[in-house]
Amino acid sequence: MNSSRGITIERHFIDQQELHPEASGELTRLLHQLAFAAKMITKEVRSAGLSDILGEAGHMNVQGEVVQKLDEISNDVIYRSMDHAGVLCCMASEERDEMIAIPKEFRCGKYTLAFDPLDGSSNIDANVNVGTIFSIHKRVTPEGTPGQVEDLLQPGRKQVVAGYIVYGSSTMMVYTTGHGVNGFTLDPTIGEFLLSHPNMKIPPRGKYFSVNMGNRHFWSEGVRRYVDHLTTPNKELGTPYSLRYIGSMIADVHRTLLYGGIFMYPMDYKDPQNPKSKLRLLYEAAPMSMVVEQAGGLSTNGRMSILDVQPKGLHDRVPLFVGSKEEITDLNHFIEKYNVI
Ligand code: AHG
Ligand code: MN
Ligand code: MN
Repeated sequence: MNSSRGITIERHFIDQQELHPEASGELTRLLHQLAFAAKMITKEVRSAGLSDILGEAGHMNVQGEVVQKLDEISNDVIYRSMDHAGVLCCMASEERDEMIAIPKEFRCGKYTLAFDPLDGSSNIDANVNVGTIFSIHKRVTPEGTPGQVEDLLQPGRKQVVAGYIVYGSSTMMVYTTGHGVNGFTLDPTIGEFLLSHPNMKIPPRGKYFSVNMGNRHFWSEGVRRYVDHLTTPNKELGTPYSLRYIGSMIADVHRTLLYGGIFMYPMDYKDPQNPKSKLRLLYEAAPMSMVVEQAGGLSTNGRMSILDVQPKGLHDRVPLFVGSKEEITDLNHFIEKYNVI
């Protein structure tokens, strides 16, 4: 931690902008608004136990999951921070069925925002880390017109910014614009995000793996054999690995980024005719994969980098494997050998 250098996130945005003299400043404004939303959500999460907003909101979202009150609050905070900023042409949220349009009274900008307002929200009542994930693309339809779904349905490779805010023992914002990854820690006494983790790099190999082992019987043979390999003692190979699984993807991937290793949410073959993935491409897998790849790691859906997967719908789900270079390379050998994901 070197927050004593006192580089605020705002100053960092401006320094980055100055590297691109052609930049209009829109992206800087967008990031500024996201950092603001992060502070507002921090305030809600930190006082959650006090203000009777823990628990469920009493209805299901489009994914058929129970919506937590804090999910709704976070969704609204982000929407209200972004709708009038004049930089977005549309948004998409894990908590909304349809694309979110920019109200007519506000300027329509050239970027799109896809977000998971509160990842890991089923853990909120247990005081477990949760977070916000964001993904920004440049629109493909003409500027000055209302945004369309196709502006959002772009592969992760085309993200211009991706990142997350984790509300943990401290609040941290981690983001990339495609030139490395930087992490900022919120100093609650002055209300500023300070650069605490410059130029983050994931170790080439780690000693942790992170997966819901309860689903082991529903994985493909390749994944099962890879996890058997990780858990079978072999001094030379550095196994067994230690298992770490919080059940909040944002926290599990954040830890993987810092310590190395692998995070997995494989395809579930419980019904072999209808295999299922859980994590969402646009709101979870693509932005977290861009961060990890920018930090020197890799991501895959078992066939290709998550960043090359073309979304067909806003709520597409994908198998996700993300982490250190060497672990993902080992996993790929197992998948190739057994020829299934
Ligand atoms: P969300 O809270 O946004 O709905 O996402 C929950 C996700 C993700 O955070 C986590 O990795 C995964 O669900 C955990 O799923 P399991 O309980 O099936 O392991
Ligand atoms: Mn989520
Ligand atoms: Mn969520």
